[in-house]
Parts: sequence; structure tokens; C-alpha cells
Amino acid sequence: FDSIAIMTSGGDAPGMNPAIRGVVRAALSQGIKVYGIQRGYSGLIADDMSTLQSGSVSNIVQRGGTVLKTDRCTAFKDPAVRAAAAEILRRRGIGALVVIGGDGSLTGAHLLQQETGIPVIGIPGTIDNDIFGTEDTIGFDTAVNTALEAIDRIRDTATSHERHFLVEVMGRASGSIAINVGMAAGAEMILVPERAIDVAAISSELAASRRAGTGSSGIIVVAEGPTPGLTSRLAEQLREQGQDPRVCILGHIQRGGSPSGHDRVLATCMGAMAVRYLCAGYSDIMVGVRDGSIIDVPLDDVIRFRKGLDPSLLDMALQVHR
Ligand code: F6P
Repeated sequence: FDSIAIMTSGGDAPGMNPAIRGVVRAALSQGIKVYGIQRGYSGLIADDMSTLQSGSVSNIVQRGGTVLKTDRCTAFKDPAVRAAAAEILRRRGIGALVVIGGDGSLTGAHLLQQETGIPVIGIPGTIDNDIFGTEDTIGFDTAVNTALEAIDRIRDTATSHERHFLVEVMGRASGSIAINVGMAAGAEMILVPERAIDVAAISSELAASRRAGTGSSGIIVVAEGPTPGLTSRLAEQLREQGQDPRVCILGHIQRGGSPSGHDRVLATCMGAMAVRYLCAGYSDIMVGVRDGSIIDVPLDDVIRFRKGLDPSLLDMALQVHR
């Protein structure tokens, strides 16, 4: 390729910047020109892009968010819009596209490749760690640590007031953040979308631990799940059962901040490998991690299969935290 383009798409994740840097620096080292597309697919269809030099990605490795900006672009679900996007890339002589994002963004990349033949490589960038075919996604480690830091603080006030707190962490379709944060925070309970919530059982457990004098305060980590307002509704139901929990929704705090060392290394490796795969003639794949090593995963699999919670992790978590 003489030229490739790169974009970040969907919810931002700490580590997207080091991934951009990895792609740009690796491509330039091979003499490949790189276009940075603004605001994901929205910027692509508006032809909003410019070339990136080595200096364009200096001093971004430690910054949260994405310097390319991002968007959730519903227009890209239309095949006609994807065809127009391919035309824009061709007109500029761009031979391949690297997309850093989650499920929806990788689906868009796969369809673009299938319908127009434009070579694409995906890089999993989402705090949720819910992408099939990879053990890890860019931003997950940072998000877990950010939520953990917040819960450690909540624990102080929970203990002082002898209160129970419901702390909602992100994860629309996956309890991955919740399980990891809950274990690391020593949460008394962890509630994930993968298991039904039994309000009466939770309430009687809280009451029993109070009576036994072992649980006058505690942290219940709740994954946000698919329907908004879950945690507030749960608190309401617990109040009806005589409990008095406080609610803290961590929300987008988990998406911001400087990427952890782990995420910076992961993102840099994935960026560099994306370019290697492209140069080796791969397309329609995602860069993933299996057994700690970088691998290529067909995008078709990535979007066709759902990544469930690691059952052994769930088992161990529930053995300790209920
Ligand atoms: O996909 C990442 C994620 O942070 C989810 O965990 C969360 O449900 C969603 O994005 C929030 O999206 P938005 O930023 O559009 O509110």
C-alpha cells in the first residue's frame, strides 16, 4: 500500500491514542502514508481526514480519549453510505482502513470490506472487553483500575456510616468490568447481566449479615446491563424490602483518564501488528490476544459470535463474593 487510513469509532477507550500512534509509526517505518480520519465513520463519509506525520502522534501515548475524535455513526448501517465511503477512500488512493473500536465499529469495517473489497483491519478498543476472539481489549485494564480507585473511596464512607452501596459500573452486555472490579475491590456482592438478579435474596442476605454483625456496610458492584436505570430500580426495590442502600453510578468516569501501562503496551503492539498484517496481505481480520500472544481473528467470527464471561472467573468470583 502507498496509503492507509485510520479511525477510532464508537465509545472511546483509554489506550486509543497509543494504538493510533502504533499504527502511524509502524506504517511510516514501512514508507506507508497514513490518513487520520476524524470522528470515525461520520468523518469518513464527510471526507474529513488529513495525513499524519510522526510528529502528529508525539506526546499522545499518555492521553486518554482519542485525538482523532469518535462517534457512533448510525448512517454507516446503510450499504449505500458504505459504497460512498469506499469511493472516498479510492479517490484519495487509500488502499486499506484500520478501525479501532468495539462491536458495532468492527461490524461496519467487516461490511465495508465484504461489499466494496477495501481491505480492513480491526483493533478492539472498548472498555467493556466484550469482543469475541480476544482475551483483552484496549481500555479495559484502565477502566477497571479507575472504577477500583473510586470504589476504594466509597468503601471509606460506606464503613463510616455503616451503609451498603450499590456501585454501578459500565457494561451494557457484559459483566466483565463488574466481575474484575468486584473481585479487586473485595465487593460483598457482584451482579452481572449474565445472571438473574434475585432482589429478595439480596435483601435477606443484607439483613442476615447485619444481624450477624458481619456486614453493617458493604459494596455491591452492579453491571449497568442492557436496560438503563437498573441500579436505581434495584435500590428502590431494596428500600421496599426495608434496606437503605446508597447508589453511586460511576458512568463515563470509567472511559476517561490516562491509559494504564498495560493498555499502552497492548495498544502499541496491536497498532504495530495491524500494519504488519496489512503488509502481509491480511484483510477482514481483527488483531486479538490469545494466551497472551497477539493473533489474527476473522472479523466474520468477531461479529458472529458473542463473547461470554469467562465461566471459571465467574465461578471463582461467585464463590468468594456471591
Ligand atoms: O461500549 C462502551 C460503553 O462504555 C458501554 O459500557 C456503555 O454502556 C456505553 O458505552 C455508553 O455509551 P455512550 O457513551 O454512548 O453513553
